[in-house]
Amino acid sequence: MINAENLKSQFPIFRNIPGLVFLDNASTTQKPQIVLDKLLDVYTKYNSNVHRGLYPIAVRADEEYDLARKRIARLINADKDEIVFTSGTTDSTNLIAASLLASGIIPEGANILTSEIEHHSNFLPWQNLTNGNLSFAKYENGNLNYPTEQAFDVVVFTIMSNVTGKYIDIEELRKGELKNAIFIADAAQAIAHVPIDVKKMDVDFLVFSGHKMFGPTGVGIVYGKKELLNKMQPFKLGGGMINKVSKENFTSTTGPQKFEAGTPPIADAIALGEAVNFIEGIGFENIIPHEQNLRRYALNKLSQIKKIKIYHDDNDNSGAVISFTIYGIHPHDIAQYLGDNNICVRAGHHCTQILHKDVLQIPASVRVSMSIYNNENDIDNLIEELNNCIAYYS
Ligand SMILES: Cc1ncc(COP(=O)(O)O)c(C=O)c1O
Repeated sequence: MINAENLKSQFPIFRNIPGLVFLDNASTTQKPQIVLDKLLDVYTKYNSNVHRGLYPIAVRADEEYDLARKRIARLINADKDEIVFTSGTTDSTNLIAASLLASGIIPEGANILTSEIEHHSNFLPWQNLTNGNLSFAKYENGNLNYPTEQAFDVVVFTIMSNVTGKYIDIEELRKGELKNAIFIADAAQAIAHVPIDVKKMDVDFLVFSGHKMFGPTGVGIVYGKKELLNKMQPFKLGGGMINKVSKENFTSTTGPQKFEAGTPPIADAIALGEAVNFIEGIGFENIIPHEQNLRRYALNKLSQIKKIKIYHDDNDNSGAVISFTIYGIHPHDIAQYLGDNNICVRAGHHCTQILHKDVLQIPASVRVSMSIYNNENDIDNLIEELNNCIAYYS
């Protein structure tokens, strides 16, 4: 079982800001001491570039960078040669879209299926590159409905919604009509909350960001099936990704480095490997019940607030992400009021304008998103200040 107070003590920010109630974890997570220590270790003990130097600290940096790749592969049951370091989920999705098209693996005007609940980063690269040949699975009564008579070249779905917490069972979907498409799963929200096995899910690509799983900002991941990565052209060109170069041409190296032109986020990637160890040390068998209890507790308390409208998918496997509006008070005013009282939530469309505008038919909502270090006290504080906020504005 998780003791959230114990866990909080491993995150220096909660010592530095007493009483901080951080409920914006879908946006980014706080960083534990061991991840921060690892960053400092890199810069103070073996700072050097990777894949270039022959001196001892460069060799150490290479080894640590490689170890981080292995740890990330282990977390999602992949091979280390299937893990590409990027700068984040958005960068990862752009890499996949540009590279699949440039390599001719999918045609110009490819048929892409995404959904109405997606983060903008999941479909804008496709909207741009395929001249808008996009279909959106409809989000109706908590279900995603897509046209089954049409064949799709690419399917891009999130595993967990960053607004309603909806969990999409990709493994199940993959057994049906969508089994032949190139399938990209967005694990940006799911990665810190549920175990992910790319082999069981049978996805071609998986993308996520380090900063949403207790790691540093500036580093993210593309998992790609080896046979696809081998066929794909690199999307960024420069140092570190070539084999031979002439005045006219070049050949690229093999393996994930092919997609990592330039100096990668070395310290961030190494510290992300430490974040993987941190998550595995706690264990999803403890994370899941803790977050599910908190999700239900928060949902129950929030539901009792007058004039509230809740946008949440209430299921046993949903993410602990609950969005809402309160009649008569703008979401930004609510978030500002809570912020002034040391409670961090997010207000806005959360990079899901299609979901907000076309489906929920609201311009913005307030979002509460929980993590391992949150507890019922945090939710009680939230509810108390929400009630104060309502009293203030009425
Ligand atoms: C579901 C989902 N996908 C993609 C992203 C983009 O992640 P990043 O901003 O780290 O690139 C986010 C960020 O909130 C997200 O929630």
